[in-house]
Amino acid sequence: MRHLIRIDELIRDEMTRLFDLAADMETLREMGSDLCKGRILFYEPSPRTRLSFESAMIRLGGSVLGFSDPQSTSFVKHETLADTVHMVCNYADIIVIRHPHAGAAQLAAQHSPVPVVNAGDDSHQHPTQTLTDLYTLRKTRGDISSLTVGVCGDLRYGRAAHSLAYGLATFGAKIVLIAPDGLTMPDEIVWRLNHLYGATVETVASPMDAIAELDVLYVNRLQKERLPQELDPAAVVEIAKQYRIDAETMRHARPDCLIMHPLPRVDEIARELDDDPRAIFFEQSSNGVPVRMALMAMLLNRVDRPPLTEKSPDLTTHADPICHNPVCITQHEPRVAPLSHRVAPDHQVCLYCQLPY
Ligand code: NCD
Repeated sequence: MRHLIRIDELIRDEMTRLFDLAADMETLREMGSDLCKGRILFYEPSPRTRLSFESAMIRLGGSVLGFSDPQSTSFVKHETLADTVHMVCNYADIIVIRHPHAGAAQLAAQHSPVPVVNAGDDSHQHPTQTLTDLYTLRKTRGDISSLTVGVCGDLRYGRAAHSLAYGLATFGAKIVLIAPDGLTMPDEIVWRLNHLYGATVETVASPMDAIAELDVLYVNRLQKERLPQELDPAAVVEIAKQYRIDAETMRHARPDCLIMHPLPRVDEIARELDDDPRAIFFEQSSNGVPVRMALMAMLLNRVDRPPLTEKSPDLTTHADPICHNPVCITQHEPRVAPLSHRVAPDHQVCLYCQLPY
C-alpha cells in the first residue's frame, strides 16, 4: 500500500509512468469508466482541488463522500486527527486530505489502512498540484529537463511552489527563484535542491531580472492567510506588488514563454494577459483531472502497471518531544511520536513538517 504525502517521495521514473497513464486517462475522462468503484473522502475546504479530485473519482466510476467544511466535523470538538482517520477509513477506500497543519497528511497516513493523498498541508507541500504542473509542461513542451522555469511570487508560504521546486529538480530543469525580500524560498528547500538534487538554482528578486531567459514563468499568489501574525499584512501586500506580471513584463519575455499559475489568481497576473496564448493556467487546471485519475487508479492498484514503490524514510527518534515549528501537526496533536527523518547523513528534519529541529 502506498500513500502520496510529498512530491520528493517520487522518483523520475515513477512520475513519468504516472504521466503516461494520465495521457491514457484523457480518453477515459470523456468516456467515463468503472475502473475504480472506490470511494474517496475529502477532508477540509478547497474548492478547486476538491472538485478536481471528485471529478477524477467520478470519472473512474467511484463515488465521493466527505466534508468540505471543517466546522462540520469533530475537528471543532477537538477530536484528534488520528481518531478521525481511524473512523473515516471504515467508509472510504482512499483518503484525500487538506489540512491547516504541516505534516497532517503524514500523520494521517500513519494511522490509515487505506491510501492517503496529501492535497495540501499548510505551507508544506502540494504534491498533486506539482504532478499536474509537470504533466502540463510535458504535454506542451515535451522535454522538461531542457526548460528554464521561473518560480515567482510568494515562495516562502506557497506549498505549490515548494513541491514544484522539487518536481522540477527531479527532471533536471533549471530553476530560477523569483521573490522579493521576505517572500523568498525557505533555506531548507534551497539546501535540499542544491545538496540532494544537485539542481541548477538561480535566485533573483524581480521578474524583470530573469524574464528574458525563461521558458516558463510560474506565478504564485501571496498566501495572505498563512502570514505569521507578527507581519503587517498591508506591508506584505505592498511587497507582493513587486512581482505583479502584466503585458509590459511579458513584452520582455520570449515569444513562447508559458505563463502558469496554480490558481486561484488574485492580482499577481494582470487580466490583460488572459488573451495571451502563452497564458495556460486554465488548461493547467483542467489537467488536474487526468493526473488525479491516474494517481488514484495507481494507488488503488486498479491498473495493470507497476505500482508506485513503497518508500521507508530513514527515521530516528528525536530527543525533543515536539518540533518547534508552530504550524507543525506535532504541536497540535497529542501523543505524536517525535520522529525525525534523516535526509542526508548529517541533516535531520522533523518527519512531519520537514523542517530542521
Ligand atoms: C494552491 C493551494 O491551495 O496551495 N491552489 C490549489 O490547490 N489550486 C495555490 C494557492 O492557493 O495559492
